[in-house]
Amino acid sequence: MLFSAGDQNWLLPALKQPLDLDDLIPGDGEWEVEIGFGKGRYLLDRAQAHPERRFLGFEVVSKYFRMLRRRARARGINNLLLVRGEALYALSAVLPAAFASIVHVYFPDPWPKSRHHRRRLFDPRSLDLVLGVLRPGGELWFATDFIEYGERVVEILQAYPGLDVELQPGPWPDGARTNYEAKYMLEGRPILRLHARLSDSAEPLRLHPEGKAAIIAAVTNRLPSPQA
Ligand SMILES: C[S@@+](CC[C@H](N)C(=O)[O-])C[C@H]1O[C@@H](n2cnc3c(N)ncnc32)[C@H](O)[C@@H]1O
Repeated sequence: MLFSAGDQNWLLPALKQPLDLDDLIPGDGEWEVEIGFGKGRYLLDRAQAHPERRFLGFEVVSKYFRMLRRRARARGINNLLLVRGEALYALSAVLPAAFASIVHVYFPDPWPKSRHHRRRLFDPRSLDLVLGVLRPGGELWFATDFIEYGERVVEILQAYPGLDVELQPGPWPDGARTNYEAKYMLEGRPILRLHARLSDSAEPLRLHPEGKAAIIAAVTNRLPSPQA
């Protein structure tokens, strides 16, 4: 079954938290998650190439979501769950923790202005949500053409507990994965690609040190000051 959050029946399982993913796509196949799949080229090809695995994709743009749903149905793909919506919301409110073996993020919006950095998927305050879906031994696969952002992502990831980060020199062995990657490779733009692996003994509830500091600051700010 191809299940998508654009269908009415999304509402019922969504009430059950965390979402019972095994109920939606039964089986024991490993889960892979793609955040911001855009036109969905990679997710579709990968789900088709790995029928023994299960895939979950997030995209905020309805047009892309509907396009991928149509193409997946036409190919008879039944190991793919699509959600149209804000991934960080779903990650924080609906999904179980530590269930996925791979998280894919390709060419995420870089939000270049510093006052918008908090909106990035790879900000120390949101990273815990993105990597929180990874089981111990799970991997992140990431690419960006916005090199300054990519370098910051490397820095942030290197500070994440139990994560081993490796830059991918040159293209992926399987070539351009997504539409953006194909376009940028044709244009000859530099691209930073990496994979990062959580250690097999990673803690189930891991927090980035800077994210943890932000939580402590937020809590402290809400406490009445001693003089009040
Ligand atoms: C620059 S495009 C890249 C699309 C695709 N990954 C590719 O490489 O061709 C970024 C995509 O991520 C989606 N996106 C950005 N932030 C998102 C979020 N928080 N949740 C879900 N989708 C998101 C955007 O709508 C957009 O389609």
